[in-house]
Amino acid sequence: MVTETSESRPTAPVRVMLIDDEEPIRRATRQWLNLAGIEVQDFSRAREALAVIEADAELVVVSDIKMPEMDGLAFAKACRAIDPDLPVLLVTAHGDVGMAVEAMRDGVYDFIEKPVEPDLLLDRIQRAWEKRQLVLENRKLRRILEQGPTLERRMIGNSAAMVALRKQVLQLGETPVDVVINGATGTGKELVARCLHDFSVRRQQPFVAVNCGAIPENLFESELFGHEKGAFTGATGQRIGKIEYAQGGTLFLDEIESMPLNFQIKLLRVLQERKLERVGSNREIELDLWVIAATKVDLADASARGDFREDLYYRFNVAELQLPKLAQRVEDIPSLFDFFGHKAALQYQRDYLEPESDDLAAMMDYGWPGNVRQLRNVAERYVLGMGSSRRVRSILGQSDSVATESSGQGLSERVQQFERQLIIQSLRKHQGSIQAVTEALQLPRRTLNNKMKQYQIVRKDYL
Ligand SMILES: Nc1ncnc2c1ncn2[C@@H]1O[C@H](COP(=O)(O)OP(=O)(O)OP(=O)(O)O)[C@@H](O)[C@H]1O
Ligand SMILES: [Mg+2]
Repeated sequence: MVTETSESRPTAPVRVMLIDDEEPIRRATRQWLNLAGIEVQDFSRAREALAVIEADAELVVVSDIKMPEMDGLAFAKACRAIDPDLPVLLVTAHGDVGMAVEAMRDGVYDFIEKPVEPDLLLDRIQRAWEKRQLVLENRKLRRILEQGPTLERRMIGNSAAMVALRKQVLQLGETPVDVVINGATGTGKELVARCLHDFSVRRQQPFVAVNCGAIPENLFESELFGHEKGAFTGATGQRIGKIEYAQGGTLFLDEIESMPLNFQIKLLRVLQERKLERVGSNREIELDLWVIAATKVDLADASARGDFREDLYYRFNVAELQLPKLAQRVEDIPSLFDFFGHKAALQYQRDYLEPESDDLAAMMDYGWPGNVRQLRNVAERYVLGMGSSRRVRSILGQSDSVATESSGQGLSERVQQFERQLIIQSLRKHQGSIQAVTEALQLPRRTLNNKMKQYQIVRKDYL
């Protein structure tokens, strides 16, 4: 069997499957086709041939019609059931027009009359082969499109660390074992979790994300396990828990380090036994789950300190993905910046101009405490033209205090920052028209003026 890549396809030999119950005819045809450089696999019985035909088979079928057991027409029909576009060339006895007409009506690819004229046979085979190549090529393209963007377009970056990470993601997707993703803020833990699922054998099944840091301790159990009606005061109806929603698919436990200790033991049981009981029910539900956890902390340290159960840590320890900080893979910065810049340009209907080389240099030098999320914010601000000029460096100058979540800013500062960005965006959009901005943001003129003063926004910069 020859394996081919699409590049080598034009020179790949044509492959024919030949079915004829008469040995001498079969041998003569095979020899003739072999001489023309065609690979031939021949069978005396249609059933035997049928057993080896698969959808997407890269071949042309040539079959006699009159054969014992299964005749050519029945065989052609069976072939079409396996692959409706598989080319089948039927060899009919002289004058058997009725049969040929029926074959055509049945959608059989082609027929050729006995005695077979060798050059004509070659010509028909060649044409059928070319058509088959096109069909297979189209199917391949369609499958690629249906899969959506490739992993390279989702997890950007060609540093050794990213290349290795993408490989691990695809490997884990084939044989999903529970895994923990470890990385600092903004390094892409959630993105990686979604990619793990989207590129896995479970991609058609549900993906359920749970942020363990966001669930109050007393609600944990019913949120995750669900409960029966009347299980506790306030349980007025039945509730399906997050774990059960993920049945058959993937459960993503984000910020697993913030899971209450007393719940960790319950989770461990679920992971080990793959069973669950809703609160207030004795019925065990069998689970089929892929569990992915994410954490910002070193779980080994946390379990040594007693903040995280050691047995749960060991349960997850089997497969671990370590996400590097952005500053540890600076070579990815230009492509990430481009990616986020183009995306923002599309979203805000702006142009994206590639940053200048000294801007790039400044970015490669910068520490990026907020990692990829911070870079994304900087690229957005760059596209929106914030800062005194478009240059990245002036944005970076302010960036430590505005763009990162780890900057220790409180809610009100961040809300103000957001408010400032909205006003600037709106001024740009309406080319400095105060009237239009007051309408768009539904603000009284006086309030807008006060806020512009407060945020040092000057109207003439946007005219
Ligand atoms: N390699 C990458 N390619 C493209 N986008 C990325 C990449 N890594 C991260 N991002 C993007 O950066 C942003 C932050 O990523 P994400 O939310 O996954 O980080 P995280 O590690 O979960 O952060 P946190 O710890 O703060 O929850 C998202 O918009 C994500 O899509
Ligand atoms: Mg996250």
